[in-house]
Amino acid sequence: MNIAVLASGSGSNFEAIAKAVKTNYIKACLKVLITDNEKAFVRVRAKRFGIKDIFVNPKHFSSRVSFDKHIAKILKNEKINLVVLAGYMRVLSPYFVRQFQHQIMNIHPALLPAFKGTGAIERAYRYGCKITGVTVHFVDEKVDHGPIIVQGHVVRGEGMRLEELEKRVHKLEHILYPLAIKLYVERKLKIKGRNVKII
Ligand code: GRF
Repeated sequence: MNIAVLASGSGSNFEAIAKAVKTNYIKACLKVLITDNEKAFVRVRAKRFGIKDIFVNPKHFSSRVSFDKHIAKILKNEKINLVVLAGYMRVLSPYFVRQFQHQIMNIHPALLPAFKGTGAIERAYRYGCKITGVTVHFVDEKVDHGPIIVQGHVVRGEGMRLEELEKRVHKLEHILYPLAIKLYVERKLKIKGRNVKII
């Protein structure tokens, strides 16, 4: 099975996935990293792992769909079976989602459907949540919405600072994302409507 990661930023999740592939926890090929941000640190991480990285400049495209069509073409050429969004700061067009039905995953740093969108950890913290967490889900045409694969919680201890909560959420992400991908690769995920059964 061939995996592609789409990312725009630091890439700590990319690194967790690359390690899981390298150690054979995930038995698949991490073929390519695609980014829309030329300066993203995730590119440095890809180079360290010897994984092909492709920067696609959004400025060279007149619309979101034409950009997504280009990315979809790359993914088809690379024979990608699973598209993994890891801090990818673009909303996918319905066109793209339809090209890869149930083959796109995303990770969100909160317990969906709470705190959709960006800045979720901080928003949960400021809201006063005592429990927050991480969600890995399949991507559909709505943002942070598709069928949930795995979730994990993080307890916000008394007096915990935002930085500590962020650290704990990210640590959990680095466990849950490789797990969800492993389950997918081993064909252990069965989707029925909104429900994803782990078999
Ligand atoms: C993660 O918190 C992820 O949940 C969110 O964006 C962040 C990406 O972090 N979608 P990194 O680039 O993987 O370090």
